[in-house]
Amino acid sequence: MKCVDDFRLRLGSHELVPIVVGGMGVDISTAALALEVARLGGIGHISDAMVHTVTDRRFHTHYVRDRLRQYKFNIGNLDKSVAQFDLGLLAEATRLHVSKTMEAKRGPGLVFINCMEKLTMNNPRETLRVRLRAAMDAGIDGITLSAGLHLGSFALMEDHPRFRDIKLGIIVSSLRALQLFLKKIARTGRRPDYIVVEGPLAGGHLGFGDDWAQFDLIAIFTEIRDWLRAEKLDIALIPAGGIFTGGDAAHVFELGAAAVQVATRFTVTNECGLPDDVKQEYFRATEEQIEVNRISPTGYPMRMLKNCPALGAGTRPNCEAFGYLLDSSGHCTYAESYERERLALAPGQKIVVHDKTCLCTHMRSFDCWTCGHFTWRLKDTSLRDADGQYRLLSAEHVFRDYQYSTGGKIELPRID
Ligand SMILES: Cc1cc2nc3c(=O)[nH]c(=O)nc-3n(C[C@H](O)[C@H](O)[C@H](O)COP(=O)(O)O)c2cc1C
Repeated sequence: MKCVDDFRLRLGSHELVPIVVGGMGVDISTAALALEVARLGGIGHISDAMVHTVTDRRFHTHYVRDRLRQYKFNIGNLDKSVAQFDLGLLAEATRLHVSKTMEAKRGPGLVFINCMEKLTMNNPRETLRVRLRAAMDAGIDGITLSAGLHLGSFALMEDHPRFRDIKLGIIVSSLRALQLFLKKIARTGRRPDYIVVEGPLAGGHLGFGDDWAQFDLIAIFTEIRDWLRAEKLDIALIPAGGIFTGGDAAHVFELGAAAVQVATRFTVTNECGLPDDVKQEYFRATEEQIEVNRISPTGYPMRMLKNCPALGAGTRPNCEAFGYLLDSSGHCTYAESYERERLALAPGQKIVVHDKTCLCTHMRSFDCWTCGHFTWRLKDTSLRDADGQYRLLSAEHVFRDYQYSTGGKIELPRID
């Protein structure tokens, strides 16, 4: 029986263990996690979501405080168009986050950055241009474009000196999205080096509509694989979403995958950025507690634990400090929902917003517990101590389990 270690991912001159740990914003896939995966020979992702707040936490900078001071006067205003991001500071924060990570990199693997195009940041095109280019300046090994598939992203990078040497990939959930993307970028004379095919069981935002449950990762993957073969396009295909064991991974390699992208199993590792008590919530989760809902202001369905504090909270929008989901005219659908509830409020009542959540605030404070479909199986990957707490795992343990296990087996941590 084959295992993941029987395969290798070739990207240019790199030969890698074909395990990619996907980006998990905001700082759930920390630099520590990405670096550990790179040390072990795979590909780890950091994320550039809410980079100012991540940088403040990592390096004691004051980007968020300073931005709030600058725009505090606008807090009562629903129109946030005045609260623009300073592009110079955005580049600076991104460079700091990326360069410090890359300086610490050891081992044969690579560190990529996950860049969610749906973070429209009150000026979608220019902020995305700055984010992409600053990450390239700071030496990132690769960029994975996700959530949004802004068809012009390659054009925003094409005159950068590293455009042809850096590894570039996209996340798609359908052949049609891939075809549109390839058509749009043809002019740049540059293809993506890899394509992550993300199915409906993934964590974070989903690239499907409300009918997500009718789709199947393997069916989408084989459709894309067959089309690429017919077009004689040799691009590494990386399925993602619900690949929970080494055996699941080995199966997709037999179907022609070049690597797998995984995330959920790493949410309960020491290196993951979630606070320890939240990791315990992930361990304890039951299948009934996991839902796909529409409360993200991005407009995409998102999977999360129903008992997370982000659901039904009435948090005051904090776009003057954050504002990552402001559209090109300075609006966020959460801020609108909040205002609706505020105006309808009876005296003495507390504001509660059900249809949307303040994603910036809740992702920053780890109160939005986004998760993969198989989070309910995490309890089977560890041991429970007498006090009821599950043991956190090391990223190395989970990585090696994917690399070497066969069948549906999961290696439990050793009792010391
Ligand atoms: C907690 C969590 C957060 C995630 N955040 C992001 C994100 O910010 N951007 C993104 O492109 N994908 C995100 N994802 C998706 C993963 O990168 C990955 O493709 C997917 O979850 C793999 O499936 P698995 O979790 O079943 O292994 C997230 C997944 C999880 C579990």
